[in-house]
Amino acid sequence: MHPEIAKRLIEKYVPDTKKVVFDPFMGSGGVLVEALLHGNNSIGVDVNPFAVLISRVKTLTIEAARLEKRFNEIITKSESDYAGKVRYDNSPKSDSLNLKFWYKPDVIKKLEILKHHIFNLDDSKPVIDFFKVCFSLTSRKASNQRNSIYKIYRMSKEQMDSFNPDVFAMFKEICKNNIQKMSDLHTSSKKAKAFPILGDSRNVSKAFSQVPKKIFDDGKVHLVVTSPPYGDHQTTVAYGQFSKHPGLWLELPPEKLFDVDSVGLGGKKKKEFQDLDSPLLDKTLKQVNKNDKELSKNKNPTRANDVYSFFYDLDKCLEQISLVLKPNQSHCCFVVANRTVRRIKIPTDQIIVELGKKHGLKYHDTIYRTIANKAMAVKNAPENIVDFVGETMTRESIVIWKY
Ligand SMILES: C[S@@+](CC[C@H](N)C(=O)[O-])C[C@H]1O[C@@H](n2cnc3c(N)ncnc32)[C@H](O)[C@@H]1O
Repeated sequence: MHPEIAKRLIEKYVPDTKKVVFDPFMGSGGVLVEALLHGNNSIGVDVNPFAVLISRVKTLTIEAARLEKRFNEIITKSESDYAGKVRYDNSPKSDSLNLKFWYKPDVIKKLEILKHHIFNLDDSKPVIDFFKVCFSLTSRKASNQRNSIYKIYRMSKEQMDSFNPDVFAMFKEICKNNIQKMSDLHTSSKKAKAFPILGDSRNVSKAFSQVPKKIFDDGKVHLVVTSPPYGDHQTTVAYGQFSKHPGLWLELPPEKLFDVDSVGLGGKKKKEFQDLDSPLLDKTLKQVNKNDKELSKNKNPTRANDVYSFFYDLDKCLEQISLVLKPNQSHCCFVVANRTVRRIKIPTDQIIVELGKKHGLKYHDTIYRTIANKAMAVKNAPENIVDFVGETMTRESIVIWKY
């Protein structure tokens, strides 16, 4: 989510800083950071433990001088170990990560050294977590992964031949940038608190049980600002795939990491369709099914099931979110992009308006924004058909409800 969108929605709907902001699909915590900067307490929920770690770190306020000191310590010790050919055998040992495929041998050595000095820092958990996140970004940048936002792929052989990443230099730059960001947040945040929670937004009350009662009087929030996944993780952005490598390096719970794509919205396929009270969804599913039969020549097409399963889960989230809103006071804002499945545009922005109605969400407005700065291809070929390109998410809709 573009930070400016979250900022403006917060300024408009919760000018009073006593009010609580909630992001049920928190990702890396951008909404929580904007709430902090505005002075509002906030809660974020995500099924991905790596997203939760990043959000926790992004919403910390640690003095830059303390981080600088520890950074110098990590780098000095790491460079000395590397020069002295010291090795630490602490890289991920999971069968599901083929280390040699994804990292060059020298990269593995240097990552192991950095990891050792970060994990053994004599400091508080927040400080160690800060460097863990810097380390995870380094491990991504130094890996043989290609830049892609949907699925992970390795570089081509030619790219690999000329790829000789300087791991320590990357780590230094990432730390320097993030210490600066931490310093900016430290000076501008206004004593509010952020609570990033590992949980599932199909069960918001369970996730909220981890939040200290004192931040909201009645367990309710004044504003929801969020961007849900575009569709099920398997056929859109594979959040779980992307967090598996850094998560394993950081020793996050593997069962939670491996589950992200199946626990994410639409991860469990529904065979039967129940009526979700959205005529537009029904119409769209029929169109997808028809095209799927024709295009895939499959007697049992499944793409409509993928789409339905996603909306089934999203509907559950809307219901759960509505239960923590304050009647006649709260607003709920979803930033969504409409995707294309089997050449059919899925009008997510309109379908969620129909779904939300039965949960008491009163449609207020939709604001459209052209996506100019997303690292996303403008066109894609969803069916791998030569000469056919479908539109990807080039326009965002900000759907706003009152409750
Ligand atoms: C589009 S991203 C959010 C991006 C975020 N606004 C940001 O700027 O970083 C959607 C997020 O929803 C999370 N997610 C998917 N299913 C979820 C669920 N059932 N409950 C909570 N989070 C979920 C994914 O892990 C992913 O981080």
